[in-house]
Amino acid sequence: MDPVAPAASRVEMTQLVMPSHANVLGSAFGGTVMQWTDLAAAMAAMRHARLPVVTASIDQLDFLSPVRIGQIAILAAQVNAVFRTSLEVGVEVSTEDPMTGERRRCCNAWLTFVALGPDGRPTELPPLAAASEEERRRERAAVARREARLALRRTLAGR
Ligand SMILES: CC(C)(COP(=O)(O)OP(=O)(O)OC[C@H]1O[C@@H](n2cnc3c(N)ncnc32)[C@H](O)[C@@H]1OP(=O)(O)O)[C@@H](O)C(=O)NCCC(=O)NCCS
Repeated sequence: MDPVAPAASRVEMTQLVMPSHANVLGSAFGGTVMQWTDLAAAMAAMRHARLPVVTASIDQLDFLSPVRIGQIAILAAQVNAVFRTSLEVGVEVSTEDPMTGERRRCCNAWLTFVALGPDGRPTELPPLAAASEEERRRERAAVARREARLALRRTLAGR
C-alpha cells in the first residue's frame, strides 16, 4: 500500500453555533462539540483509509473556553500516526468571531479509529508519510500516547 501524506486527509470543518446547539448559558453543549469532533476526525480517518472506520477511543478532551452562540466553530482534524489497523487523529477546535475574525482555541482531542474490511473485521491501513519535522513530532507523540492508552486499556480489562 502506498503511504499517504497527512495533508491528503486533513479536514477543516466549520459550523455556525446556533441556539439549538446551546445550553442555558448560551454556549454549545459539550456533547455537541464532541459530536462535531468525532465527525471531523472520522472524515480525516476515512480519507486516509479509503475504508469504513469506527471510533475505538477518544482520549482526554479538554474544553479550554466556551463556544458561544453566533460564533463559527472551526474543527481542524489531522492524522497523527498510523499503526496497523488503527490510527490516531488529532482535532483542534477553535472559535472565530464572524464580526472581527478573532480566533480562540477552545478544545483539543485525540481519537483512535479502526479501519474495517469487507468482513467487518479490523484491516491493515496504508502507512503515513510524515515528512516535515512537525509531522514527525506529531507522529512520535502519538506513538507515546498509544502505548499509554493500550496500557490503561489492559489495566481496566483486568479490573
Ligand atoms: C474497535 C474494534 C473494531 C476493535 O476490535 P477488536 O476485535 O478489539 O480488534 P483488535 O483487538 O484486533 O484491535 C484492532 C486495533 O484496534 C486497536 N484498538 C482496539 N481497541 C482500542 C481502544 N480502546 N483504544 C485504542 N486502540 C484500540 C488495537 O490496538 C488494534 O490496533 P492496531 O491493529 O493498529 O495494532 C471493536 O472493539 C469495535 O467494533 N468497537 C465498537 C466501535 C464502535 O461502535 N464505535 C462507535 C462508538 S459507539
